[in-house]
Amino acid sequence: MKDKITIQDIISAKGQRKLTMLTAYDFNTSYYLDQSGIDMILVGDSLAMVVLGHEDTLSIGMEEMLHHTRAVTRAAKRALVIGDMPFMSYQASIKEAVHNAGLFLKKGRAHAVKLEGGQKVIAQIKAIVDAGIPVQGHLGLTPQSVRQLGGFRVQGRDKNQAEELIQDAKALEQAGCFSIVLEAIPTEVAKQITSSVSIPTIGIGAGPHCDGQVLVIHDLLGLNEAFKPKFVKHYAQLGKTIREAITRFRKEVEIGEFPDTEHSYF
Ligand code: KIV
Repeated sequence: MKDKITIQDIISAKGQRKLTMLTAYDFNTSYYLDQSGIDMILVGDSLAMVVLGHEDTLSIGMEEMLHHTRAVTRAAKRALVIGDMPFMSYQASIKEAVHNAGLFLKKGRAHAVKLEGGQKVIAQIKAIVDAGIPVQGHLGLTPQSVRQLGGFRVQGRDKNQAEELIQDAKALEQAGCFSIVLEAIPTEVAKQITSSVSIPTIGIGAGPHCDGQVLVIHDLLGLNEAFKPKFVKHYAQLGKTIREAITRFRKEVEIGEFPDTEHSYF
């Protein structure tokens, strides 16, 4: 296995091998992803929902994102770590966008940043790339625009929307993005986008033709039992395992079985 994944490795993987990306928000999870050979670790703003219990990603800010990014980068020795720029950290001005992207590298020690949107945020992306900061784009269902999109729903179903997504992807490539996340897009549209650009596409609910796949780690591990949209596959049932372990602990304490002599000092 390669020592350290670089931006060049991600770009040159297109057409050669499938890429993997998962989210992590803490040191321990990052350690396991890194050990398991995952190419990219995304410190997603999904943190707001799966870790902090918010109903969407809008209320998380730079301070919380940097705090968690630093925890993730401390454990990741091999994987490329990407910090997700939170809502309103790049939309309002180019200057703010560059400053905040820089903080992900300076303070979070991330290797790259991700931000949502197509042609509307091209000026920000160009300026961030010009500052020497690698950028991953994000198209389709962009959760920071949930109010505008009218909910978390599949994007690009009609012909005009699909064409706009292809144009957005081309614009992101031109602006210097090293890859693009495609979220909640019909399989055929994601396939067309993937073949329209020379940088890798990383799909989540975008079918098998993307150059790589990403999932939120809580979904993959079955930690978020109530959330089971079509694109999520539970590779483990950790929610069940955790509940059983905690219940066993409670019962053993209640009946005086824990701690036994094996777990006591003499
Ligand atoms: O915040 C996040 O976890 C993401 C992924 C769903 C791609 O943006």
